[in-house]
Amino acid sequence: MARFTLPRDLYHGKGALSALKTFEGKRAIVCVGGGSMKKFGFLDKAVEYLKEAGMEVKLFEGIEPDPSVETVMRGAEVMLEFEPDWIIAMGGGSPIDAAKAMWIKYEYPETTFEDMCKVFGLPKLRKKAHFCAVSSTSGTATEVTAFSIITDYKKGIKYPIADFEITPDVAIVDPDLAETMPKKLVAHTGMDAMTHSIEAYVSTANCDYSDALALYSIRMIKQDLVDSYNGDMVKRDRMHNAQCLAGMAFSNALLGIVHSMAHKTGAAFADLGAHIIHGAANAMYLPKVIAFNAKDETTAKRYAVIADYMELGGKTVADKVKLLIKELRKMNDALAIPHCIKNYGADSYPTENGFVPEDVFLKRLPDIAANALGDACTGSNPRKIDQAQMEKLLKCCYYDTEVDF
Ligand SMILES: NC(=O)c1ccc[n+]([C@@H]2O[C@H](COP(=O)([O-])OP(=O)(O)OC[C@H]3O[C@@H](n4cnc5c(N)ncnc54)[C@H](O)[C@@H]3O)[C@@H](O)[C@H]2O)c1
Ligand SMILES: [Zn+2]
Repeated sequence: MARFTLPRDLYHGKGALSALKTFEGKRAIVCVGGGSMKKFGFLDKAVEYLKEAGMEVKLFEGIEPDPSVETVMRGAEVMLEFEPDWIIAMGGGSPIDAAKAMWIKYEYPETTFEDMCKVFGLPKLRKKAHFCAVSSTSGTATEVTAFSIITDYKKGIKYPIADFEITPDVAIVDPDLAETMPKKLVAHTGMDAMTHSIEAYVSTANCDYSDALALYSIRMIKQDLVDSYNGDMVKRDRMHNAQCLAGMAFSNALLGIVHSMAHKTGAAFADLGAHIIHGAANAMYLPKVIAFNAKDETTAKRYAVIADYMELGGKTVADKVKLLIKELRKMNDALAIPHCIKNYGADSYPTENGFVPEDVFLKRLPDIAANALGDACTGSNPRKIDQAQMEKLLKCCYYDTEVDF
């Protein structure tokens, strides 16, 4: 038996934010990030709608990108005091993920962060509050997923919390919110979504339901992402749906080692002054992982199906895999994303000398590889991988060298 879980309701299309007017409850807490939702007027609108619904509203503002355990604990305390029956998380993956974790701690104040990280081990939520996620970036799809990614900055590691309990009750996918994204964010979140669909399609946990969502979203992202990046707002709106479909796929089919490596490299060099942004990390590692996974015959065939859906041509399975890798690299070029860590600048753009020096990378490599192996996403990768292979693969991701093992 397998389970397929999505939010109970999904409001989509322009103006979908106004669905908040129809919510029933006494108190709503609205969780947001650093200011983009306020700046563009969406926060005020949300508050207005919730008040129209007769609710008392409190704000929790300033959730940082790649949210920390400390922020989660602080937010939960505010919730424990205010006692909301609705948690409304608005913004990109960061504030929504942080609010999901706050929700767990609010429902179960004794829970520690370690408890939360036990995969599919959460107790029943919704005893105190329901959860609505309103996404403003087109990538993480956390508005429909069973995941939340929280960073432990003491360890420099991102931990995924995974459980269908944290799949939101309501998702609002309003493209108006995505239209204000700066180009770089469009690029990174868009390639994150592409990685979600591709990893979900080849995952060991794929099924007919997730395959349909994955393939359709892959085709949409191929057709729309670069144009959206270049300012086409019709495509921007379509991307908001495409990333959400990708999210529905991977929330149920899980992911693979592209994400394992992105999670474990993201904050691993934070002491050097920058993060390897999640979507950019995925975009760099995805072609390498495809080459690695395609050594498994069944997986190669599935990549070939993806290539066919993208209408890339090619006659044999091997040709199609190559064309898929080529197409993804072409997309990275069009989106100003580097091909490897060595060329990843502190501003995320391609540069001759990236912010991660070779000697630092090599010194930290064994630990990063071990952490990536232990990541929750590794278990559903279609080809098994050991420590030595993971180190080799990460080296290919650093130097942009061929994966021949
Ligand atoms: N829960 C999941 O299933 C899942 C999946 C993938 C990634 N993640 C996590 O999500 C986080 C990344 O989320 P993200 O990529 O959405 O970015 P983000 O939430 O970290 O936001 C990045 C920046 O963009 C700004 N921003 C957001 N929306 C905007 C808009 N519409 N207009 C202008 N600026 C806007 C924010 O203020 C912030 O400064 C990472 O922590 C990642 O690990 C979670
Ligand atoms: Zn992701």
